[in-house]
Amino acid sequence: MASQLLSLIFLSLTLSLATAKKPVHFHFYQHKTVSGPNPSAVKVAKGPIPLPVGPYSFGDIIVLDDPLTSGPEPNSSLLGRAQGLYSVMNSLTVTWVFNIVLTCGEYNGSTIAIMGRDDIPLPVRELSVVGGSGAFRMARGYVLLKTYSVDITNGDAELELDVYVYPAEL
Ligand SMILES: *[C@@H]1O[C@H](CO)[C@@H](O)[C@H](O)[C@H]1NC(C)=O
Ligand SMILES: *[C@@H]1O[C@H](CO)[C@@H](O)[C@H](O)[C@H]1NC(C)=O
Repeated sequence: MASQLLSLIFLSLTLSLATAKKPVHFHFYQHKTVSGPNPSAVKVAKGPIPLPVGPYSFGDIIVLDDPLTSGPEPNSSLLGRAQGLYSVMNSLTVTWVFNIVLTCGEYNGSTIAIMGRDDIPLPVRELSVVGGSGAFRMARGYVLLKTYSVDITNGDAELELDVYVYPAEL
């Protein structure tokens, strides 16, 4: 009787441990450089309708390969890159489609696929992790995105990303 009870307790403990899966958390600063001779973000298509505010038009497509670092300074250690694009919906909203490629550490070479809507004036925006490769094949998760700084004279910007990825159980 006692041993049956014990094994029941043990079973429920094992089950709750198995379901309480923790995400892998990454914290990055993304450096988007538009100005100067070596930009990391370039406008490749200009939409036909200029927006009333700011330098963009509806339909603009910006392709980027931005460095991701551990700290806000551009010379802090490089952890990976954000590679992909965003398209402009209106003065305050863009749609992101990009991969994070990790270039060091335990997950070096793995990628995290992200897409989502960026409502720029909000202090924190949420994007979706829709998959990945390597350690993150078929992963799910989310990204909390903040604007760390913007230079409104040239469009250079720094974003702060908290990425939470739940690796798939394959
Ligand atoms: C990074 O740059 C700052 C100045 O912008 C400098 O003070 C600091 O020493 C640099 N750090 C490294 C690790 O090079
Ligand atoms: C990451 O992996 C690449 C390709 O395998 C390798 O060249 C590079 O040295 C690795 N970087 C680090 C910091 O381990």
